[in-house]
Amino acid sequence: MAEKLETEFCYFDFTLPEGRQEKRPFQKKDLVVFGTPTIAGRVPNVLLKYLSTIEGRGALAVPISLYGNRNYDDCLIELRDILTKQEFYPIAAGAFIGEHSFSKILGAGRPDTKDLQILMEFAEKIVKKLETEDKTLIEVKGTPEPYRSYYQPRDKKGNPIDIRKVKPLTNDKCTDCKICVGVCPMGSLVLKNVLKMQNIMKMKDICIINMS
Ligand SMILES: Cc1cc2nc3c(=O)[nH]c(=O)nc-3n(C[C@H](O)[C@H](O)[C@H](O)COP(=O)(O)O)c2cc1C
Repeated sequence: MAEKLETEFCYFDFTLPEGRQEKRPFQKKDLVVFGTPTIAGRVPNVLLKYLSTIEGRGALAVPISLYGNRNYDDCLIELRDILTKQEFYPIAAGAFIGEHSFSKILGAGRPDTKDLQILMEFAEKIVKKLETEDKTLIEVKGTPEPYRSYYQPRDKKGNPIDIRKVKPLTNDKCTDCKICVGVCPMGSLVLKNVLKMQNIMKMKDICIINMS
């Protein structure tokens, strides 16, 4: 989009706890493509406090929900509403599939070439919308507030699973490279505990959802 609009582009990554330290005030002239993963059908609730510190100041926004091919449920509508509350002006929105972090089957190989093509077309449509000065607010699939409650995953027998207690499992393929420690969005993995062959790692914090 920046290329087509012949404008500057910058990228803020708030995946990791360090990325959430700084305040991010935007301005009216900005167009902010704002993505979060879908966690239990909603915006990750551990991010809500951080998201309430981001100031849109009239910037245009494109909320994006990435989901693991189960469903994005009310994630996109919730993100659109959060951005609106933070004084952004959402002019387009999209939900896109990536491989599910809990599965190598759900969303395997996604995003694929077709997804990337759809993304490009989506970007082109946004640019066109900007050129025509059509700034209509978008409607988004989902249940308006009050949103549906967090999606409850179940095991094969239908018993509810408490995702907060989910822990990564290592096996004899683990080379102790410790990449997992650096990429955990919650900063929950402990450096010295990585190499626990065929064991469940000890964690210093929960997985990315707070069901309470
Ligand atoms: C705790 C947890 C809950 C998730 N819930 C959903 C869900 O409700 N629907 C879905 O389609 N994908 C779900 N996913 C998959 C993520 O949306 C997907 O894997 C996404 O790529 C994760 O982003 P990340 O790689 O930045 O962590 C969930 C993943 C995790 C870890």
